[in-house]
Amino acid sequence: MRKDVSTKAAENSLMRTAKGEKMPKKSILVVGAGGHFGRYIAPELLKRGAKVRAMVHHDQAAAVARSTGVTDIARADLRDEAAVRRALDGVGGVFYIPPKFLSDEAALGVRLVELAAEAGVERFVLSGVMYPFITDMCNHREKLPVELALIKSGLAFTILHPTNLMQSTGVFFWSKVLDTGEYIEPWAQDKKSGYVDYRDVAEVAAKALTEDGLQFGVFDLSAAGVISREDIVDMMSEALGRAISTRTQSIDEWNNQNMPPNQILRSAFAGIDRFYSNYGFPGGNDLVLRTILGREPRTMRAYINELAAQSN
Ligand SMILES: NC(=O)c1ccc[n+]([C@@H]2O[C@H](COP(=O)([O-])OP(=O)(O)OC[C@H]3O[C@@H](n4cnc5c(N)ncnc54)[C@H](OP(=O)(O)O)[C@@H]3O)[C@@H](O)[C@H]2O)c1
Repeated sequence: MRKDVSTKAAENSLMRTAKGEKMPKKSILVVGAGGHFGRYIAPELLKRGAKVRAMVHHDQAAAVARSTGVTDIARADLRDEAAVRRALDGVGGVFYIPPKFLSDEAALGVRLVELAAEAGVERFVLSGVMYPFITDMCNHREKLPVELALIKSGLAFTILHPTNLMQSTGVFFWSKVLDTGEYIEPWAQDKKSGYVDYRDVAEVAAKALTEDGLQFGVFDLSAAGVISREDIVDMMSEALGRAISTRTQSIDEWNNQNMPPNQILRSAFAGIDRFYSNYGFPGGNDLVLRTILGREPRTMRAYINELAAQSN
């Protein structure tokens, strides 16, 4: 019964364009629209004619959100409930990608869901993580209470479970690869993991917020197959026309070189290292993503080729 009511509410929030396509009348709030990954969401929504409000918590992120075409910018820290309420005012849908490695990640997400429901939001898309039940990794377990809150919320939820993001390689490692000729992480270089291009995730999120069919669904999102860091440096070498190598650094050395002296952050990476060094990140089933997109998902090889082409 609740599902019927929420679906109806979601349908009522849609209008038809001249071409007969359904469009949301109300704005969609993109929380994290200026982030490394969240920045891909607004362009997909704008492309579909949606009205977008970006929620950002500092100037630099506001500038990024503007550069993606958004003009309605709401400044709000997730911990500032009054500001979040203002950002949610009059909004029909919410996209949320949670900040990572915060001790209160789960609490902030749960509260955002509650506030969205109170504000009369109809649709809510959570960009979470594949296998949130791997509780050894805090960046996974912190997503579980948010999923539960959504399921209980009465909102027309869509929960996305992206595997490793290809854009992580670009954002966090690519400039070092170009400078040093090495791609170094603390976890084992030969263990294989699934990857997804966040632009494909953004397309799915935009569909969920502007079209019918993805509401009340939980979707694992991955490109096909699993690859190791050794496979990735082979792709990099080929794309750049020079040798890129990899090795595995101890977690302590890696933390000392790359992380501020923040215990939450360092133990989070130690947890990730323990899992990835033992198991990689298995999966790589692209059935769901391919079906939703109606095309083949983007591949890591294509992504690396793009990075290399931009670096020439
Ligand atoms: N990296 C991967 O391969 C991968 C794979 C699957 C899922 N994920 C998940 O993707 C999520 C995002 O990762 P990320 O590296 O982009 O994380 P992040 O740097 O912490 O940022 C996520 C977003 O949260 C915003 N934010 C941070 N603190 C905030 C606050 N107090 N109030 C309001 N907004 C705040 C950030 O805004 P600013 O940019 O403006 O600071 C950013 O837009 C994480 O939950 C992670 O677990 C990552």
